Amino acid sequence: MQRGVVDVAKPIIEEAIKLKLDISQLCSNGLMNSFWIARSLQQKFQSERLVSQIPDFYVLFNDQVTNDFNTLFRSLPPERHYQAVGLPGSYHGRLLPKASLHFAYSSWALHWLSQVPTAVADPTSPAWNKGRVHYLGARQEVVDAYSSQHAKDIETFLEARAQELVSGGLMVLVLSGVIPTSAENSNTSYTDIPTEMALIGSCLTDMAKKGGVSEAKIDSFNFPIYFSFPEELKAIIVRNGSYNIERMEMLENPGKHTLSCANARASFHRATLEGLLIDHFGCEITDELFDRYAHKLQVASPAVLHPDNDKSILIFVLLKHT
Ligand SMILES: C[S@@+](CC[C@H](N)C(=O)[O-])C[C@H]1O[C@@H](n2cnc3c(N)ncnc32)[C@H](O)[C@@H]1O
Repeated sequence: MQRGVVDVAKPIIEEAIKLKLDISQLCSNGLMNSFWIARSLQQKFQSERLVSQIPDFYVLFNDQVTNDFNTLFRSLPPERHYQAVGLPGSYHGRLLPKASLHFAYSSWALHWLSQVPTAVADPTSPAWNKGRVHYLGARQEVVDAYSSQHAKDIETFLEARAQELVSGGLMVLVLSGVIPTSAENSNTSYTDIPTEMALIGSCLTDMAKKGGVSEAKIDSFNFPIYFSFPEELKAIIVRNGSYNIERMEMLENPGKHTLSCANARASFHRATLEGLLIDHFGCEITDELFDRYAHKLQVASPAVLHPDNDKSILIFVLLKHT
């Protein structure tokens, strides 16, 4: 699934580097010290006859501090044209010195919110998401709380990168999104989107009926994931004002065809979501939860497994720092 995202984005990023990266502008800003796709950049320098000026490439891999960076480094090809550097920490804050970055790439991560919006777990709030674990299919107040958390998170991300990118530096964002089903671009019409997180929620509710999980625990749990709309994301970027949008398009993830069997789909979601569930419910429930989930996918909701019913898209954005 993740490989699909990388495969579909890579040729577009290579083209973007060829067409949109202004090396002479970047060189005039001082030393180059960090780039993502070393191979494309090398070709770009060669094609512009700047061979004697090819810099050393440093690729900084960012993820949360809990990420297994050692496994990442072990998986890199030994014959590579760049030095790999780990950059642990949240991308919602500053990670690098000012004006030090020439190319940034965020791959399939910005749909993760920095936190669950506080109102959705607050019984006194109109946005309390009682009995549900996600905003898809929930009341408008819940949807709005998620949407404004997403906007805040994207803003802090853009702000931090605006400090770090050199003028003329490029940034590619690829994130999970959805196309609105209503003409007004409103984020209310989710009804025809198969919501796998809602299915996980319904498995938790089934377990609560049997006494395996407390209802109050379900009421206070929500997945911190939000699927942006292209127009919504565009508005946030425009409001930020530090970037020109050079290219924006919707892509299909070819990887979605790889998970059409219930057990594979359950394993995929378990790998992604289990940590959050264990933190909240403890580790005793996860075997049963994901067994139930695979069963429900197979028996009650096989349509969810069909790739044609997957309404999620990838939003690809190429930004140039002004
Ligand atoms: C679906 S994975 C994608 C991983 C990789 N970028 C790829 O394309 O295969 C999402 C990654 O985003 C990371 N992530 C989520 N929130 C983050 C944050 N605030 N700062 C840094 N990394 C974050 C997660 O730890 C996870 O590894």
